[in-house]
Amino acid sequence: MKAVLLCAGEGTRLRPLTLARPKHLLPVAGRAVLDLVLCDLAEAGVDEAIFVVSPEGRLHREFVGDGSRWGMAASFVVQPEPRGLADALSWAREEVGDERFLMYLADDLLEEGVSDFSRSFFEGHAAASLIVKSVEDPRRFGVVVVEDECVTRLVEKPKQPPSDLAIVGVYGLGPEIWPAIDSIELSARGELEITDAIDHLVSTGRRVECHPTAGFWADAGSPEALLRANRFFLGCMERRIDGDVDGASSVEGRVHVGAGARVTSSELLGPCLIGEDCVIEGSRIGPNASLGAECSVRDAAIEDSILDEGCRIEGVRPGLARAILGRRVAIRNVAGVGSAPLRLLLADDSVVIAGGE
Ligand code: G1P
Repeated sequence: MKAVLLCAGEGTRLRPLTLARPKHLLPVAGRAVLDLVLCDLAEAGVDEAIFVVSPEGRLHREFVGDGSRWGMAASFVVQPEPRGLADALSWAREEVGDERFLMYLADDLLEEGVSDFSRSFFEGHAAASLIVKSVEDPRRFGVVVVEDECVTRLVEKPKQPPSDLAIVGVYGLGPEIWPAIDSIELSARGELEITDAIDHLVSTGRRVECHPTAGFWADAGSPEALLRANRFFLGCMERRIDGDVDGASSVEGRVHVGAGARVTSSELLGPCLIGEDCVIEGSRIGPNASLGAECSVRDAAIEDSILDEGCRIEGVRPGLARAILGRRVAIRNVAGVGSAPLRLLLADDSVVIAGGE
């Protein structure tokens, strides 16, 4: 079973983090977004993954390798310019051939995975099928109108949404999609929209189905959504203490302490994740904080935040909240204003040190 993963987006809403690394490789609850996505696809039976990347797609290639870690064969095609999702998909046309396939916008994270959805798509005969979810503000998404379980209209980011059903970013598509892409024009924002191509299928009498999901969904393309996904996936983890936590520390709730980590005189509040080989001293971590491997935190408080591997945090008062830090970020002797914690978004290798050391 083939899946096309669209990974060419620039991740502008996650800058500066995405200047150093594509958004699909940022961590959520200690795992790269793309790892979570590929595990879901593998579970659904995908054994061939075609990645559409931008010309700078080197880091995706390095991360995925040959795909064998997920039991898949991986191949890569380049979308030369960001001209929309339908354009991105069209670069994978040769690799897909005339088979039915899944298309996945690789920053979408779903609690329910895609197994049930893909089973019903591959067993059925619809030209396309979409996962949809009822949302509060559909104006930020593609929106569908549904009658008798069939989609009768699709519209991309409507100012006046005709329903509250947002397109989640996971699609089942048949070969009918290729001529549909050929027949659409650029949208008002100058892109070839996949939503328009599927709307073309509907208006030419093809059957387009939808599969509502009630579970958690995050389009992890913004700091808020990444933190929301972090909270959700941390909440799904079991308590597990592999590292050393000394008697002067307290551990409450779903806390995961990785092997080789050392925690002294600290408070760990679940849900939280302390990665392998971290060193935590005199600090409060959690709730909803995830620390990648080899971080060190001394005399600081960190909640509702994501720290990637190798961060060094020391003397940060009253602490960090809703922060996202890339790899090897160093923050030392920094105090916020009053009791409000610091909210920092810092790319790999950033350094923030007060006192001019
Ligand atoms: C894209 C699609 C949109 C869909 C959304 C889901 O929008 O164009 O139809 O609802 O993904 O994440 P984007 O997030 O690229 O603006």
